[in-house]
Amino acid sequence: MTNFIKTGVIGHPISHSKSPLIHNYWIEKYGINGEYKSIDIHPDNLQSGVQKLIDEGYKGFNVTVPHKINIMDLCYEIDDLAKEIGAVNTVTIKDGKLYGTNTDAYGFAQNIKINAPNFDFKKGKAVILGAGGAAKAALYALEKEAVPEIIITNRTKEKADNLAHGIIKSIDWEQKNNAIKGANLIINTTSLGMTGKPNLDIDITKISPHALINDIVYAPLYTDLLKTAKSKNIQIVTGIGMLLYQACRGFELWNGTTPNVTKELEDLALS
Ligand SMILES: NC(=O)c1ccc[n+]([C@@H]2O[C@H](COP(=O)([O-])OP(=O)(O)OC[C@H]3O[C@@H](n4cnc5c(N)ncnc54)[C@H](OP(=O)(O)O)[C@@H]3O)[C@@H](O)[C@H]2O)c1
Repeated sequence: MTNFIKTGVIGHPISHSKSPLIHNYWIEKYGINGEYKSIDIHPDNLQSGVQKLIDEGYKGFNVTVPHKINIMDLCYEIDDLAKEIGAVNTVTIKDGKLYGTNTDAYGFAQNIKINAPNFDFKKGKAVILGAGGAAKAALYALEKEAVPEIIITNRTKEKADNLAHGIIKSIDWEQKNNAIKGANLIINTTSLGMTGKPNLDIDITKISPHALINDIVYAPLYTDLLKTAKSKNIQIVTGIGMLLYQACRGFELWNGTTPNVTKELEDLALS
């Protein structure tokens, strides 16, 4: 078929990925002549697996665990955003060459802007819990939004120390209850609170009533952290929007259409 747009997501394992649901929903909604597939590529076969996609005429693909860093070696060009975050999650293929970018920072910021439209990033300090890949994307976004001070804390302190520079300071994991007291924004980027994982043990009773809490975990949608915050009338933003808005960018790049994030899509992604 001519002009059939082939896209997908590579990872290992990949069956859990929500990306095919999201992209195929938009493909149908906008009448795109194309398809978005889950593609399982074992880490030992990354190069040959990606070459196969090039040979099959793929327009691009998303990249998930465990390939977000190793894919960078296969890219012909990586934009500054992905270089700074240190990971590529979206690849476009042109003339057989890979062009890498990262859409997680956009997804993270857009989620808060859309779901808490009156929130002012510039008003005070932000505290990031966790120092993994998602934390790096959040850090990048917060710096772009001109947050005046960022505190990062992680179980493995060294990883937080490595991200500290300028307005970003790292503190011990045991100090997190003190750090969040005066915060304008508190973000959980750890996997704590996910289904099957322990809850995040944090005391939010002394935080500012004007603070915003964002948990980027979306399974469950309402983590214990968010449930507790909600019961105290603290403003919250769930993690599903980050997933949906990061997907928008790839869809735009490959299909030339800016898709909408709707409640119907959100429900589908959570199903
Ligand atoms: N909403 C979205 O679109 C979106 C996007 C990306 C990720 N996420 C979610 O964000 C979470 C993190 O993803 P990631 O890619 O950043 O993963 P990652 O790079 O593996 O980082 C995991 C983070 O969780 C911390 N952690 C894990 N177990 C812990 C424990 N028992 N106690 C304290 N800290 C613990 C790790 O600390 P150590 O460094 O000490 O191990 C690290 O900071 C996952 O739940 C993922 O599903 C959501």
